[in-house]
Amino acid sequence: MSAGITRVGVVGSGTMGAGIAELFALHGLDVRLAVSRPSSLTAAPARIAASLDRRVAKGRLAPHERDAALAAIAVTADLGDLADRQLVVEAVAEDEGLKQNVFSTLDKVADPDAILASTTSALSITRLAGVVEHPERVLGVHFFNPVAVMELVELVPTLLTADRVRERAEAFVTGLGKKPVTVADRSGFVVNALLIPFLLAAIRMVESGYSSAEAVDQAMESGCAHPMGPLKLADFIGLDVVAAIAEALHAESRQPLHAPPPLLSRMVESGILGRKSGRGFHSYL
Ligand code: 3HC
Repeated sequence: MSAGITRVGVVGSGTMGAGIAELFALHGLDVRLAVSRPSSLTAAPARIAASLDRRVAKGRLAPHERDAALAAIAVTADLGDLADRQLVVEAVAEDEGLKQNVFSTLDKVADPDAILASTTSALSITRLAGVVEHPERVLGVHFFNPVAVMELVELVPTLLTADRVRERAEAFVTGLGKKPVTVADRSGFVVNALLIPFLLAAIRMVESGYSSAEAVDQAMESGCAHPMGPLKLADFIGLDVVAAIAEALHAESRQPLHAPPPLLSRMVESGILGRKSGRGFHSYL
């Protein structure tokens, strides 16, 4: 594997963490997946197995490759088990305090040469690195959903990230078949800085009664060849995640176009989170 990285860790087993662990395992890496909830010790491997099974069913993966990928992932509830990892990707919920706690613990337990990465969508990598004794080993490595399908990885060095750390991370993600783009540590980086205002504008169209969710999505799918209209995409990303990214963008920019529309906030407060909860702007039941 490129960059000489073979032992990797992932923290968090949500959509992104599970997808990243699966990607790593499919590339022959030795993966340790750290979870916080005891129930995730069994739920996370089951989720990854279901995803691998879909690939087998589509004939894109041999059963023995699925078994090898699953065997390559060890799930643990103890961040201390990541001590021998050469690179760790943090993928917990979009909450700065939570992520800082993870980085603070990783800083103590991880090998001093390990790269510490976050796949945050919009939080400042600099502020996450602020709790680490050697911030030169921290950078953003932002994957996209579905991790297996989307080619882009945004690499986000801070003003303090060492060049050799960014270069190793770039070689590493290139070896995973991804296309890295280096971007500055600004809220939303490039993709979410452009995408989220678009999704929020679509939500405001529905909120104001200007258009139905179906019509907005149909318009952008048929008129602009988007694979998913903006409301389907918001449901796919998760409305709680969209709201958290919007809040992070708004906290940094103070621009009204980044403020979460009240409809989005009310939906999140009601547990209407998009595809993962069965209901969002569309129904998935
Ligand atoms: N895991 C693995 N593979 C998947 C997958 C998943 N979750 N979802 C789809 N795929 C694969 C399928 O197996 C299929 O592969 P194949 O052609 O080799 O069999 C291929 O992707 C196409 O899938 P489908 O034919 O089932 O479905 P679609 O053609 O409708 O594509 C999609 C699904 C790839 C999700 C497409 O709708 C799409 O590209 N949507 C936009 C996704 C997007 O914009 N993502 C970025 C979100 S922003 C983000 O992640 C940033 C974060 O910070 C918020």
